[in-house]
Amino acid sequence: MLIKTSQDGFSHPFASEITSQRVYQERRNLIKLMAGGVAGAAIASWSSHSALAQNATPRPGRLTPLPGLKSKLAGAITMEKLTDYKDASSYNNFYEFGTDKSDPAQNAHSLQTIPWTVEIEGLIKKPARYSLEDLLKLSVQEERIYRLRCVEGWSMVIPWIGYSLSELIRKVEPLGSAKYLEFVTLADPKTMPFVGSRVLDWPYVEGLRMDEAMHPLTLLGFGMYGEVLPKQSGAPVRLVVPWKYGFKSSKSIVKIRFTEKQPGTAWNKAAANEYGFFSNVNPDVDHPRWSQATERRIGEDGLFAKKRKTLMFNGYEAQVGQLYAGMDLKKNF
Ligand code: MTE
Repeated sequence: MLIKTSQDGFSHPFASEITSQRVYQERRNLIKLMAGGVAGAAIASWSSHSALAQNATPRPGRLTPLPGLKSKLAGAITMEKLTDYKDASSYNNFYEFGTDKSDPAQNAHSLQTIPWTVEIEGLIKKPARYSLEDLLKLSVQEERIYRLRCVEGWSMVIPWIGYSLSELIRKVEPLGSAKYLEFVTLADPKTMPFVGSRVLDWPYVEGLRMDEAMHPLTLLGFGMYGEVLPKQSGAPVRLVVPWKYGFKSSKSIVKIRFTEKQPGTAWNKAAANEYGFFSNVNPDVDHPRWSQATERRIGEDGLFAKKRKTLMFNGYEAQVGQLYAGMDLKKNF
């Protein structure tokens, strides 16, 4: 991964503004529509909010309890302070739009998210082509507050909206021979200025083992902070796998393929000694070029801010540790 180890002169102001009542209400309304499965209405809102999400910078401020919308899933909520929306939507990795953290927010406006389809193929009984509308309808949306830690050593706390990927997997009935899932993302040189650059082998692909993909924490995400995903965050549909380094969370997914063999993944193909297939957050297994023992939380990175200790499986060990029982995590990094 192209890493600027000097923390690329990154500096973020500490956000103090609180969400205005109007923005808050708009967000709540959209979530209610999504949570209620009122897909038609949600889609209508989707188009207008899609535009809104690109321009507005609503600031969620501190964690506000959202009655009826929080996930009931153990581990899917943290009481840590949310990362400011402005930071979460302007400090991104989305290499299709450039390699600097600020590039995706500046360039992703060209991404066309309507209409959008996701093909599901490979070792399943029911191959299908889902429109975004159908995907949205498939299950009730939940808000889940997850930590996401990047392999580069920074982390955020984000309220995502989506549902467990397992809901979709069950629908398409995987065959017994399906052991892995490959996630293929959009690679459109017309709308993504860096597709074609030699930094990665396009399209950006990622993979999960079947039990990881079926784990209830693995989220198929459609929104964040009560709105649709901004384009730079992987609109209109992305993965969020909170116990793995951020690069496992593929953005702007167009295809999910069920395979018998472990799929090749973008960063593993680029540098196999640095980025393994599993890429579980693990403070005891350093990246060959830097330690993974600590992280800086975006928004807390003033001159005197202390780094945080990185937690095993990013703090989700109780939920996912058993998936790796008996595995040598130094070899299977
Ligand atoms: N998905 C695509 N399609 N292209 C990318 O470059 N970058 C990954 C991941 N998903 C990437 C991607 C990396 S390296 C990280 S850290 C996360 O997205 C960043 O997600 P965020 O912008 O929501 O923090």
